[in-house]
Amino acid sequence: MANTKGSSVEELLELRKKYILPSTPIYHARPFLVSRAERQYLFDENGKKHLDAFAGVVTISVGHCHPEVVRRAQAQMAVFDHSTMLYLYPQLTRYAQKLIQRLQPANPELEVCFFTNSGCEATELAAIIAKNYTGRHEFVALRHSFHGRSLMAMTLTGQSLWRHSTPYVFGVYHAPVNYTYRRPPETTPAQYARWCAEEIEQIIRYSTSGKIAAFIAEPIMGFGGVITPEAEYFPRAYEIVKKYGGLYICDEVQTGVGRLGKTFLGIEKWGVKPDVVTMAKGIGNGYPLGAVITTREVAEAMQGKVHFNTFGGNPVAMTVGEAVLDILESERLPENAAEVGGYLKKRLSALLDPFEVAGDVRGMGLMLGVEFVKSKKSKEPAPETLLKLMDAMKEKGVLVGKGGMDANVMRIKPPLCITRPDADWIVESLESSLKELT
Ligand SMILES: Cc1ncc(COP(=O)(O)O)c(C=O)c1O
Repeated sequence: MANTKGSSVEELLELRKKYILPSTPIYHARPFLVSRAERQYLFDENGKKHLDAFAGVVTISVGHCHPEVVRRAQAQMAVFDHSTMLYLYPQLTRYAQKLIQRLQPANPELEVCFFTNSGCEATELAAIIAKNYTGRHEFVALRHSFHGRSLMAMTLTGQSLWRHSTPYVFGVYHAPVNYTYRRPPETTPAQYARWCAEEIEQIIRYSTSGKIAAFIAEPIMGFGGVITPEAEYFPRAYEIVKKYGGLYICDEVQTGVGRLGKTFLGIEKWGVKPDVVTMAKGIGNGYPLGAVITTREVAEAMQGKVHFNTFGGNPVAMTVGEAVLDILESERLPENAAEVGGYLKKRLSALLDPFEVAGDVRGMGLMLGVEFVKSKKSKEPAPETLLKLMDAMKEKGVLVGKGGMDANVMRIKPPLCITRPDADWIVESLESSLKELT
């Protein structure tokens, strides 16, 4: 049943203009009005079913309103819905233990965590931990990255779109990202990957004091447009960071909880073991929940330094987080992400091959992107093509996202519970939209 209570798109737009900070973009020529949600589907004000192939910005993991999440959250809310970490309650430590156990098979060193309200706050805390542990303040991040909206997270972010003209935090430098599609034509993907990694060393040598607190990177770029590094990149980047005594902070806000298929963390795909992991979005399935997980040795650097937040470790958030972990396992959703994501990527590649405007199909599992260009030869970004496609696909019931420095990358990142027929729906809606457009 729709619950928009008679509000129309026009009325809500007016109210939004009147009361909300004017800095948040709204998707679509005619914005989508959400009335309700169920697993991988969103329903508009007329009750029309849509496939949520952007998952509320890569956040819905086990599905909207999953009955088990709802049941456990409601039960917890009825008992106590807020407390403070100044007291003891089992929900906090039970979830911490479960989350760490879920990470540990691949990362036995990650033993200690802290909960935040968002990914941004997790970035901020990870940076604080790295500074405390190393006694240094310089960071290397990547161009095209996104890490959140606080001053430190904005400084670490490597895209002008997301950087306002304010004085940034001192000591942050950006290395080139391993963007295979836009590499110099004379290089092979592997050569370019190695060159990008070596640039980290050059930046440390030339732009910093020669000592860094940390290197921070997303395993696959989210807002940056699903830029997916080659196998050579992260192992070499890691060696360099260790050579200069830095910590490796892995931002798993988008790539975690099995989105890349099978592995719980995205970085497992490259066999690298981070010192600090930040998570948010998918671990809470829409509930405000973030986490920073690190090694015992690194965590010890926070001994005696008070760190606290009001909502971190909220008992309902902990309960939701635990339910999400249980459902990911019982419904084998990381495996589903690999299976359906692999199928979807294959179908997208086959579909898009003949279209001049489809430059690149990339990503892994259910973190897929299609880069739109004016022509395959020129590779000139075509953001207006993407906008038209997004609107046309919405008419056909499929909601997708966008990203990339030039806003020309379609982001297909649905809840991990989508099925093959859903994947077909995405492909067919894109195919008919492209045919209309061209
Ligand atoms: C990779 C990445 N890191 C950090 C963040 C910040 O998370 P939040 O929006 O929860 O603050 C985001 C948000 O989109 C993200 O994509």
